[in-house]
Amino acid sequence: MLAAGTDSPHRSKKPVDGTGVLVGVTVLRTLTSADVPACLALAADRDWPPEEAKWRFLLRVGTGFGLFDGPRLVGTTIITRFGDEHAAVSMVLVAPSHGRRGLGRRLVEHALGHAGTPVASLFATPFGKPLYERLGFRSVGVVAGHFGTLDVPRSGVSVPVEDRDHLVKLDAAVFGADRSAMWESYFDFAREVRVSPDGFAASWRNTDRLMLGPIVAGSLAEAKALISDVADGPSRVDAGDPALRAWLTEHGMPARFEVDLMVRGEFSGARERLWAPLMQALG
Ligand SMILES: CC(C)(COP(=O)(O)OP(=O)(O)OC[C@H]1O[C@@H](n2cnc3c(N)ncnc32)[C@H](O)[C@@H]1OP(=O)(O)O)[C@@H](O)C(=O)NCCC(=O)NCCS
Repeated sequence: MLAAGTDSPHRSKKPVDGTGVLVGVTVLRTLTSADVPACLALAADRDWPPEEAKWRFLLRVGTGFGLFDGPRLVGTTIITRFGDEHAAVSMVLVAPSHGRRGLGRRLVEHALGHAGTPVASLFATPFGKPLYERLGFRSVGVVAGHFGTLDVPRSGVSVPVEDRDHLVKLDAAVFGADRSAMWESYFDFAREVRVSPDGFAASWRNTDRLMLGPIVAGSLAEAKALISDVADGPSRVDAGDPALRAWLTEHGMPARFEVDLMVRGEFSGARERLWAPLMQALG
């Protein structure tokens, strides 16, 4: 029997180099905060930004798995369970030197097996999409990352959250799964969390910009008002609704890239009220 969070060494190609050191043998184990510098180095290898605070937060609210070739981290993923129903997959990265050997698939399969939930979701880059399709995920929409400084004054429709329990229950009703354990950490991690009559919005700092999410609202007008209340300087919000996207583009926040929202199993909840995810890593 294997210890939790590890699996057997996986052998591929040449097992031993000229000095007798095993190469091409990867071992999978859980990641800790001590692995964050290695995660950042791997991310840089794929031209991903150095999102240290985000990695640390995700490793607190979820479980990370790393593939190691000797001492070197060559692959990662993080899975965050929301109760017994839903899990979000994120940070799927494989070093270019180790690509196309099945390591990405192995990581995601391991993480999904660890979570054991009937529903799993993720946002997929074009690199990851074929891999996820083979694992039973299907695309249910496209979300674009909109970047810039919003040129709209604050609406004043929202106030800082006081009743956290009410917000967490509304989040569960909209998202379709109980994310209360994650919210316990997110209230501290977020820069601010504000509530409006029919929704709420939050922001968090990532490297050189403010990330806006989640945005939960009963209407497009309320979503725009909430975004204007939490935007502050260079910001990013990930939106799928065409009308919201057009408004962001018109007001100083054009789109830079698109990703697919993918799900395995069935989404539930009132997801039409989720105008932007908390972050792609958490849905
Ligand atoms: C997406 C990513 C994680 C895939 O990792 P990977 O380890 O190369 O993935 P796999 O090897 O499991 O599968 C990738 C391809 O290799 C093929 N493959 C798997 N084992 C193979 C082998 N032994 N020999 C040849 N090809 C193989 C797969 O069939 C697949 O082919 P396809 O994409 O043409 O259909 C990696 O490309 C990456 O880090 N990209 C940048 C970051 C990113 O976009 N991450 C996804 C975020 S959603």
